[in-house]
Amino acid sequence: MSYDSESEATKSYTLAWIAALLLLVGFVVGLLIYPPLYEAPKGEAGQMTLFIGRFHPILLHLPIGSLIFLAMLEVLCMGRKGEAKHGSTALLALFVGAAGSVMAVLAGIMLSREGGYTGGNFSLHQTMGIIGTAGVLLALVIRLMAMGQGNWELLHAYRALFFLSFGIMSLGAHFGGNLSHGSKFLTQHAPEPIKSQMIAMEKWMLTLVETPKAEKTEEKAPEAPKATEAPKMVEAPTPTATPTTPPPTPAAGEKLVFANLIQPIFVAKCNKCHGEEKQKGDLRLDTYEFTMAGGSESAEKKNNIVPGKPADSLTYQLVISAEDEDMHMPPEGKDQLTKEEIAILKWWIEQGASNTQKLDLAALPADLQAAASALSK
Ligand code: HEC
Repeated sequence: MSYDSESEATKSYTLAWIAALLLLVGFVVGLLIYPPLYEAPKGEAGQMTLFIGRFHPILLHLPIGSLIFLAMLEVLCMGRKGEAKHGSTALLALFVGAAGSVMAVLAGIMLSREGGYTGGNFSLHQTMGIIGTAGVLLALVIRLMAMGQGNWELLHAYRALFFLSFGIMSLGAHFGGNLSHGSKFLTQHAPEPIKSQMIAMEKWMLTLVETPKAEKTEEKAPEAPKATEAPKMVEAPTPTATPTTPPPTPAAGEKLVFANLIQPIFVAKCNKCHGEEKQKGDLRLDTYEFTMAGGSESAEKKNNIVPGKPADSLTYQLVISAEDEDMHMPPEGKDQLTKEEIAILKWWIEQGASNTQKLDLAALPADLQAAASALSK
């Protein structure tokens, strides 16, 4: 039975079918060329891939806008009159939303090839984005069928599928927001009952995708080298120990511990994600003030760096955690800190995490002097 016996049912949707099928094929081929990965990508991605990937944050607004518009239209289309009046507009919004989703998903996968995207938030974002998009594409096909046949029941089925897919996509989008703004962005200022509900739901979803923490083996959680306990004011080390170590001349004293030992570590291993351009977890490590101010977790507690207390300092906790820990820094697969760099970081925090302490290589534990000398060059 046709729901609209006048004209709609007899209309041919040939063009719309061709567009929808092209979109479907584009999505599948795109996923074959850029399969979603859940671990650090191997090898370098091409410049073009990385270039297009950076359009993800722009492209994703297209499906947001058109699918929200469609959701409102679909409420009107629940009645036969509404469908007759707005059905073709809904079809157009659905097509634009589906096309935008396909582009956003493929660009998102290309963006992930930059590396550094692992963990629960990323897995959920990628998986739900793809499932939601597949759902919207299927919904597009079903709506076309329903409109072509004038099949009212099929149109109801379409609508259910659309709202389901839209819901999945929206939730998935939220985990993407967590990736770029830090996981507290949405909940931080939420009123209390909502806040705990949201956090509980998020935690539960994350447990679905996160592999249970692997038993940490001793070697995996490296202790900072023992020798950091060496007395601070040791005399210059035996000449044979570290021939590269310059004597603590006044010239060496002009350098500063933070600027010449700590910052070079951050620049080499952290600031790609915590610098001027990107602030993952809302954290910048490119100046002393930013480093001390902390990020989304540590700003309030003032514990990104706790002078004198490495064990209480979030940055130190994260760099010494096992590499497969969720919040391990730098993230799994990235260039890791060396044992000496970790020990130097620890030493600096123990010394009071100062911005002005002069660098005196001889004041460092003997086994760190060579590494410190290399860093401060
Ligand atoms: C490839 C990107 C990347 C690199 C490199 C990286 N981080 Fe991170 N870092 C992140 C992301 C993403 C988060 C946010 C995680 C979250 O909120 O779930 C984060 C969060 C943090 C936080 C938590 C901040 C807060 O207050 O919430 C600290 C501390 C941190 N990183 C320290 C470091 C240090 C130190 C290094 C270098 C040794 C480093 N990171 C290197 C991506 C990176």
